[in-house]
Amino acid sequence: MNQTPLLDVQGLSIGIQQGKRWLPAVDNISFQLYPGEILGIVGESGCGKTLTACSIQRLLPQGVQTTGGNILFNGIDITGLSQEELRRIRGNEIAMVFQEPMTSLNPLLTIGRQIGEPLELHGKKDKKLICSKVLEVMEKVGLQDPKKLAPAYPHQLSGGMRQRVMIAAAVICEPKLLIADEPTTALDVTIQAQILHLLKKINQELKTAILFISHDLGVISQLCDRVLVMYAGKLVEAGGVKAIFSHPQHEYTKSLIGSIPRKALKGKPLANIPGKVLSIEEIAERKFGCPFAPRCIRAGTSCFAGFPDKATVNEGHYVHCTLVKPLAEEHYGGI
Ligand SMILES: Nc1ncnc2c1ncn2[C@@H]1O[C@H](COP(=O)(O)OP(=O)(O)OP(=O)(O)O)[C@@H](O)[C@H]1O
Ligand SMILES: [Mg+2]
Repeated sequence: MNQTPLLDVQGLSIGIQQGKRWLPAVDNISFQLYPGEILGIVGESGCGKTLTACSIQRLLPQGVQTTGGNILFNGIDITGLSQEELRRIRGNEIAMVFQEPMTSLNPLLTIGRQIGEPLELHGKKDKKLICSKVLEVMEKVGLQDPKKLAPAYPHQLSGGMRQRVMIAAAVICEPKLLIADEPTTALDVTIQAQILHLLKKINQELKTAILFISHDLGVISQLCDRVLVMYAGKLVEAGGVKAIFSHPQHEYTKSLIGSIPRKALKGKPLANIPGKVLSIEEIAERKFGCPFAPRCIRAGTSCFAGFPDKATVNEGHYVHCTLVKPLAEEHYGGI
């Protein structure tokens, strides 16, 4: 893509403090997200997806810190901004939606108030204007009869409706970037499909770029244009969703595809990936090699020698795996 990226993450590393040491939870990852694009991040629990998302808003929890790299948003390095400058961006230009809306919503405030709050925080004072904006955005996210619903409290709503409230609050300022961290994981399949449909609509109508995080490659494939595959804090493969599905290169990506529940397998147990993700202590001790090597059925001695360089598989599709030759002989058509 020749466009300027909206988000340009360059060599990002995130450390977790343990005594005097910083253990690497995210290690030297780079990626770009272009305006209007939906980019997915997929990986098992503990791979560093949420920490990556939080670092983009500079909202890492205590004892967790960016230890290297730059995060350029619209050309400005987020890592160098003051708290005041960050406040101006958060909720306004970059907004976030989390997995569990109940913990993010205030049980004591009406949903209308909470949806309108980002407008107030970013300087809008005209109550009438805020009110009409709230009703408009509620309509947009599929909260029917907004006038009647606005005075309700979060506990009066279903899980799916609460997630729509969170999305309404996130998009009311029309952010350029929406980060959605497992926004459908707590919902049943039908409601999940509706929320994915809503995110697609927001992306198309408001031209909001979306960074969508999920441990489920099946969900990612329904929504995203491109996907980053993360394993134990490393980026192991990236490419267009179609390319990743038709020509997965990394054994980890193949395992993720194999663990997507399919209709044909209904009633059968999920194809789980044997073994588990290394803990951050184990990663810190191992230091060398591909982190997936201990679980990889194809791993050879070279896989334990060093983290493999980036190999281009095809335009826009690359992988970090010693078993994949740079530029595969048999090319396939585009991403
Ligand atoms: N506040 C924290 N303090 C200490 N360690 C943390 C903290 N937050 C995350 N970690 C550790 O950092 C690693 C990456 O965590 P992260 O939450 O980013 O994973 P994730 O990919 O989002 O997983 P999940 O799918 O379960 O949400 C994990 O090993 C986790 O235990
Ligand atoms: Mg997470």
